[in-house]
Amino acid sequence: MSVESRPIYYPNKAFAKEARIKNMCEYHDLMDWAKEDYEGYWDHWAKEKIDWFEPYETVLDESNAPFYKWFNGGKLNVTHQCIDRHLDVRKNKAAIIFEGDRGDKQIITYLELYRNVNRFANLLKNEFNVKKGDRVVLYMPMIPEAAYAMLACARIGAIHSVVFGGFSAEALRDRILDAEAKVVITADGAFRKGKPYMLKPVVDTALEEGCDCVEKVLVVQRNMEDVVWIEGRDYSYNELIDLEKDLCEPEVMDSEDPLFLLYTSGSTGKPKGVQHSQAGYILWAQMTMEWVFDVKENDTYWCTADIGWITGHTYIVYGPLAAGATTVMFEGVPTYPDAGRAWKMVEEYKINQFYTAPTAIRVLHKMGEHEPEKYDLSSLKVLGTVGEPIDPPAWKWYYEKIGGGRCSIVDTWWQTETGGHMISPLPGATPIKPGCATFPLPGIMAEVIERDGTPVEPGEQGLLCITKPWPSMIRTIWNDPDRFVKSYFGDAKKDGQPVYFSGDGAVIDEDGYITITGRVDDVINVSGHRLGTAEVEAAIKKHPHVAEVAVVGKPDDIKGESIFAFVVLKNAEDTFGEEAELVKEINQVIATEIGNIAKCDTIKVVPGLPKTRSGKVMRRILRAIAKGEEIKQDISTLEDPSIVAKIQTCVIG
Ligand code: WT7
Repeated sequence: MSVESRPIYYPNKAFAKEARIKNMCEYHDLMDWAKEDYEGYWDHWAKEKIDWFEPYETVLDESNAPFYKWFNGGKLNVTHQCIDRHLDVRKNKAAIIFEGDRGDKQIITYLELYRNVNRFANLLKNEFNVKKGDRVVLYMPMIPEAAYAMLACARIGAIHSVVFGGFSAEALRDRILDAEAKVVITADGAFRKGKPYMLKPVVDTALEEGCDCVEKVLVVQRNMEDVVWIEGRDYSYNELIDLEKDLCEPEVMDSEDPLFLLYTSGSTGKPKGVQHSQAGYILWAQMTMEWVFDVKENDTYWCTADIGWITGHTYIVYGPLAAGATTVMFEGVPTYPDAGRAWKMVEEYKINQFYTAPTAIRVLHKMGEHEPEKYDLSSLKVLGTVGEPIDPPAWKWYYEKIGGGRCSIVDTWWQTETGGHMISPLPGATPIKPGCATFPLPGIMAEVIERDGTPVEPGEQGLLCITKPWPSMIRTIWNDPDRFVKSYFGDAKKDGQPVYFSGDGAVIDEDGYITITGRVDDVINVSGHRLGTAEVEAAIKKHPHVAEVAVVGKPDDIKGESIFAFVVLKNAEDTFGEEAELVKEINQVIATEIGNIAKCDTIKVVPGLPKTRSGKVMRRILRAIAKGEEIKQDISTLEDPSIVAKIQTCVIG
């Protein structure tokens, strides 16, 4: 369906009246202000929103582009912004509402959060000698201690790097080593679908080889399962935490000091340590919480992401707390004990804003179409989606059955690198079209252009670029500034100057609405999880029988994309009659090297890969074959054009 033929849904009038941005006129006023006086615009918000210890000297320093500096010279502490400054007015307000997988509950007020974070900060500082600038890796389940740990690092100026709990020991080790982490914080494990699962053993394996940088491991008890204990290295959070004082002065941080690293996939095998800053990051995290979710004082907001991803950083921890909101944290999965779990929680906590991924919506729709009818969902005001395009059937169900036709859906486009939302509807202002991220947020100069900066014609696909630096942008790639420049500022230019290219393609319609069409680089999006084809290929190549491999994304009804691998074996006889066995083995290698999230849905043994004469694999052809499409593109430039038909036979056969 083309974007033009999509219906338009207008914001709820009663909601719009109370919203922070009430209509498109207000939106355009803000955008015009930013366009006319970019620095003045951001100066205004930085002064209004952040509780500075000391003022900054410059708003935006472009002298060393693309290593931009925002609010340089300013002093602050992100935990002061997220916790301390709220204590006067909301010390007894719930900061975090936690619900465990098995239904256990915990409410943490802002005052309690303050105490817990201070104690945790003291523990890291006094017992583990963690100092400003040190790296701390978190390998944690979705429990409040994960948030405390992140904030404790921020309090003392340590740089956290959260590694998603689904990554394997190998992947964890790579990230520990790249960041040269001094401390790892983990848990024994946690609960999923009513059963305990383990994390600490993965840390043990990761640290078996070559991680000399790691001095200590802090272990939070969650599922109480037995774990191996290494004396002198492993420490029990639960035994130590009560010995610490609940006051730890916040470290005075510069605006541009790193706040955290978060590893993400790119187009080479090695993940990139995306580095975020203090002031710019927290400013935009807070502003987007206020504008995009329009969270009000008495609201309860729930984002279902995992803290191992950027969504969990910005929209479970930093954004909601900076905005003084109540944020729900959920350990479990929305399909356990049944596909009504999420809706039951919405009813129980009277959730006002609900933010999740299209994959989750598709699963809940498929598994429990009528579940929402059993619950009172009338508290909901704003629904959000993130991570991948949402298809019209899922959108419609979300809008009608979850939102009761009353709630705006904010389809938020952004990335690990952008720190916060870039393109999204404003729930009280933007008329929305299903599956469309709509317009750039006020102050964000997102454009769909050709490589040379020419804006694309309506309906034509172009590169989704952000043509001016913004406060919450990636600052660099940890240990690899050259890669930072090459990855993001090498593809597109505007007025002769390199601009940030996201890696996504997009289309603008006649009304100026932006629809994301997906990655144009070698990155696959499986259930909203970002995986580099090169990363998966590097893992598969570790299988002793594999000579060559190319992986592509194949459209999938539930996951958005699934991984399809074309494998060339060293010896044709290697698999004879036992392809199923080989497939299992290859997926096992992937699980070990990266984690289960990167497993392939389809692995096909083929006689060769379609390569150009210069040896480049033509992935476009493989994508078409994976989809079962006819090959329309010119294959005469291939070194061996006949390979295409041979691959097709293997795939069909
Ligand atoms: C990639 C970024 C941003 C947090 C979660 C993922 C895709 C993101 C949308 C959306 C279509 C989207 C893009 C982007 N993406 N949001 N609303 N519609 N696609 O963060 O792992 O850094 O992945 O997710 O392809 O580049 P990430």
